Amino acid sequence: MFKLTNKRIILGVTGGIAAYKSAELVRRLQDQGAQVRVVMTPGAEEFVRPLTMQALSGHPVFTGLLDEKAEAGMGHIELAKWGDLLLIAPASADFIANMVHGRADSLLGAIYLATPALVSVAPAMNHEMWKHPATSDNVDTLRDRQVHVIGPDSGIQACGDIGPGRMVGPEIIVDQISEFFKTGELQGIHVVITAGPTREALDPVRYVSNYSSGKMGYAIASAAIDAGALVTLISGPVNLIEPEGCKFLSVVSAEEMLSAVLEVSESAHIFIGAAAVSDYKIESVSEEKIKSNDETLTLTLRKSPDIIQSVAKKYEQLFVVGFAAESNNLEGYAKEKLEKKGLDAIIANDISRSDIGFNSDSNEVSWIDKNSSLIFSKRSKTQLARDIIQQILKSFHHNR
Ligand code: C5P
Repeated sequence: MFKLTNKRIILGVTGGIAAYKSAELVRRLQDQGAQVRVVMTPGAEEFVRPLTMQALSGHPVFTGLLDEKAEAGMGHIELAKWGDLLLIAPASADFIANMVHGRADSLLGAIYLATPALVSVAPAMNHEMWKHPATSDNVDTLRDRQVHVIGPDSGIQACGDIGPGRMVGPEIIVDQISEFFKTGELQGIHVVITAGPTREALDPVRYVSNYSSGKMGYAIASAAIDAGALVTLISGPVNLIEPEGCKFLSVVSAEEMLSAVLEVSESAHIFIGAAAVSDYKIESVSEEKIKSNDETLTLTLRKSPDIIQSVAKKYEQLFVVGFAAESNNLEGYAKEKLEKKGLDAIIANDISRSDIGFNSDSNEVSWIDKNSSLIFSKRSKTQLARDIIQQILKSFHHNR
């Protein structure tokens, strides 16, 4: 089982002999399903060549804050927002001190300040430097800011001294960071999630569908699994790998999705309707392939069942969260849907923007419930999913 499926990790490498272990770390992170982008400080480049890290990660390495080429690809702020975790390994005494002071004079320093992601450091330095009160105070400050500190190990150091300050091994780092993604807050809670599009057949070879990629629903399923929930993911046809650790049901049409949803939701606590259900199905599906001789073809469409409305009505115990994709009057239409479909909360996203939503890896959404509304600014769908799960958790407990 992969421990870091689809997690986006920005690996920051700072100057120290332990930088050679980061090359191995890139591989171990990828082995566990993570996507890795490497950022190196000038000090790190003295120990390991960016080319090594580029070959291992399969992506260009980010080095300079004012690198026009890198900025034209993925700018440093965009990179900071891309990540689910900023992992700095090795983290030198100097870089830790820079983090404490919020210095943005290096690319990695700027990313640390700009990222909404989890942050973790694996310190590596001489044992006297590690034990120095300045370093101890700095590390305490980072811990107070919720930065996870991994290690260091004790043992023989590169300089020949013996003591604490060695960077822990790549396997241990991978194990520890995969634990960060598990919050355990949804232990004992059954969450049913729908994702992806549905397909409505016209004839044996054609169908009506939509552009939904399923990424948001799958990210929510992963976040709920990480939070310890019992997850049932009911998915329409998508090109995504099913998340490990959930009950997975594959469906095609809206009718099939409805039956699956009603069957599994009796024992559920939370229902999240992230699927883009086809609003209409073909009234009479042709058993034979429809001939293409005529200039025009008229099809009669009939409204598909409203899955979320049906489940909200049938199982009153459920905390039901819907999605609303709107191109105008976002909040107004979302509120109408909240009322009409009997939802507890609705997550609205603006499909008029090309940089977020459908098929994109990022999203920006509004959360609207009966008492409040708030905006989750643009971030990766993985990060957004974690934030949505936290918000659902708050509202769910508040409503109980
Ligand atoms: O009405 P609209 O499609 O905009 O509503 C979106 C919300 O309703 C989503 O949560 C979607 O999963 C759900 N829905 C549904 N069944 C339908 C249509 C939408 O569950 N037939």
